[in-house]
Amino acid sequence: MKRVYFLLAFSALGLNAYGQKTIDQKVAELLSKMTLEEKVGQMVQYSGFEYATGPQKSNSAAVLEEIKKGKVGSMLNVAGSEETRSFQKLAMQSRLKIPLLFGQDVIHGYRTTFPVNLGQAASWDLGMIEKSERIAATEAAAYGIHWTFAPMVDIARDPRWGRVMEGSGEDTYLGTKIGLARIKGFQGRGLGSLDAVMACAKHFAAYGAAVGGRDYNSVDMSLRQLNETYLPPFKAAAEAGVATFMNSFNDINGIPATANKYIQRDLLKGKWNYKGFVVSDWGSIGEMVPHGYAKDANEAGERAIQGGSDMDMESRVYMTELPKLVKEGKVDPKLVDDAAGRILTKKFEMGLFDDPYRFSNEKRQKEQTDNLENRKFGREFGSKSIVLLKNQGNILPLSKTTKTVALIGPFGKETVANHGFWSVAFKDDSQRIVSQFDGIKNQLDKNSTLLYAKGCNVDDQDKTQFAEAIETAKKADVVIMTLGEGHAMSGEAKSRSNIGFTGVQEDLLKEIAKTGKPIILMVNAGRPLIFNWASDNIPTIVYTWWLGTEAGNSIADVLFGTVNPGGKLPMSFPRTEGQIPVYYNHYNTGRPAKNNTDRNYVSAYIDLDNDPKYPFGYGLSYTDFKYSDMVLSSTSLTGNQTLNISVTVSNTGKYDGEEVVQLYIRDLFGKVVRPVKELKGFQKVLIKKGESKKVDFKLTPEDLKFFDDELKFDWEGGEFDIMIGTDSQHVQTKRINWTK
Ligand code: NOJ
Repeated sequence: MKRVYFLLAFSALGLNAYGQKTIDQKVAELLSKMTLEEKVGQMVQYSGFEYATGPQKSNSAAVLEEIKKGKVGSMLNVAGSEETRSFQKLAMQSRLKIPLLFGQDVIHGYRTTFPVNLGQAASWDLGMIEKSERIAATEAAAYGIHWTFAPMVDIARDPRWGRVMEGSGEDTYLGTKIGLARIKGFQGRGLGSLDAVMACAKHFAAYGAAVGGRDYNSVDMSLRQLNETYLPPFKAAAEAGVATFMNSFNDINGIPATANKYIQRDLLKGKWNYKGFVVSDWGSIGEMVPHGYAKDANEAGERAIQGGSDMDMESRVYMTELPKLVKEGKVDPKLVDDAAGRILTKKFEMGLFDDPYRFSNEKRQKEQTDNLENRKFGREFGSKSIVLLKNQGNILPLSKTTKTVALIGPFGKETVANHGFWSVAFKDDSQRIVSQFDGIKNQLDKNSTLLYAKGCNVDDQDKTQFAEAIETAKKADVVIMTLGEGHAMSGEAKSRSNIGFTGVQEDLLKEIAKTGKPIILMVNAGRPLIFNWASDNIPTIVYTWWLGTEAGNSIADVLFGTVNPGGKLPMSFPRTEGQIPVYYNHYNTGRPAKNNTDRNYVSAYIDLDNDPKYPFGYGLSYTDFKYSDMVLSSTSLTGNQTLNISVTVSNTGKYDGEEVVQLYIRDLFGKVVRPVKELKGFQKVLIKKGESKKVDFKLTPEDLKFFDDELKFDWEGGEFDIMIGTDSQHVQTKRINWTK
């Protein structure tokens, strides 16, 4: 009883059960002491000077002075215990000693880099994805970093867009699950733990739908499509407690995301009741001027804050304009209080007011500089991300005693490139990275020989190295060709109009093929590439993405069969650029193409199949999996029932292996047209050779809901196809009726 009185008394004073002030109360108290300029200062983020990840304007000396005056709330691209400490010391000279938040693009690993994100998605392994972010967070936090600008949860259906490498591909369901796993990994046991960083769901919103796949381009789509396809991963992230959001460079139906009230105020902070804060993307507040949405910086600042942007990354608009806007009565001071309050809340939650230097710790940094356990995990994760596209004649797995193996191609001895696009923690650390050559060499029998020839450069027309490569191939029993696109050819501002192998790599492949030697082709890329000649002529193809610090070992583990590949494509691979966008869950038309020969008056190209070259969910194994007929608990359901679905998968081949069993549905008729297939579940199962596993799924009406033309989210009774299969094309189907 006494305790109840205490609690009531405490809560009347705004204190928690232990008689301490709540964070809300601490924030309110602090805000009451702050000047307008100091509050706006919390909303300002600058980049450090060494690793700019955008077009920096910095005058470093001036920035340092501003920090001392409490005019800066956060820095990005500042890392390392020494550097973060020295910046934090400046903040501690400010009147109210409010600590800085340090943000960084920790996108696919930090000191230990992991496969590029699209490659990680190909593992369909949520546990491993979460663990990779746990490691990334532990390493980054040990380097003084409080906050990562990840995960990117943009759904993307256009492989010309360079940033597909940073996301989870074309599917909303898969993308949502992966986004949640990443947030859990980054934020670990919760903000304030010394091994957790704040996560950031980005880029809010629809950045992946840029017209023509050109980075930063406009987005024009129905609100129904936006809500159904692009927003669910963000909503799920908000519900899961992601600490922050980042908005995006694009406009959505004419309104830049940075100033978009509908998505930021009505949905995110309104309907979704999100309490974290929103950072702009680099310079995006100021860029509303060239974009043609604000006539000058002043108007850009006004629109950004009205639209819900809480922190200004590097555009310097809030710093100069916001105080004026408030004084002129154009911006309600409550909006500034709200934004600064959200940011301060996170600083309290991170424990920075208790000790602003708590993340800047030499000892922890040292432990995480080259952590062998983390590398071990990276090696395994790399191998699980590889997708086997073709293995005709079972050349793979390769025997370690193959007498002479030739590795040919521009990526064979690459080191730093294996990090992939986002590798901000490094200048030159080539010695830490396992090249493909070294990885293969280390596993090949000591009586065997590994030959190497570069053959050509990544992206020029020079063929002078061809002759040497051909001679090398002739000496070998097996040739491993390593081709693709450069590691920095996918990523931010790396859209490509032609997404084939660059330079003369395909010509080199054709020349080597003429030697008649068996060829294993490894494709290095951050996105789906188009390589039809190779697909049609080379019997063995493995898609290796960019795999990170342990790349060479991960690759060798798969080539020699220590690991049986089980990756599945998270994006459809087009046949030509003219087919883009090609994605499995497209809507039907009134004149659907029936097959690839009858193209008269149907929705098809007269010169090309509608199907992709490799479908979403596709990937082979060294073993064979056989699916039994699926069993449904009922084919006629009513209301809030549950449909149980099961299938038995048998490993009939020669190796233990992992299979991703995929569940799709199709709602046959709807108030609005429904996709021809929608992923609704998947399970990755390890099945030993000769064994079988029963895999169970459940569906409830929740899984059948969609947005109608009035943005109502509900389901309709009717007929549905239930599909289970090994990829989005190879499925078995049963029809059910589900009445409301
Ligand atoms: C711009 C990118 O769009 C964003 O994803 C990144 O976090 C920032 N630059 C900071 O580097």
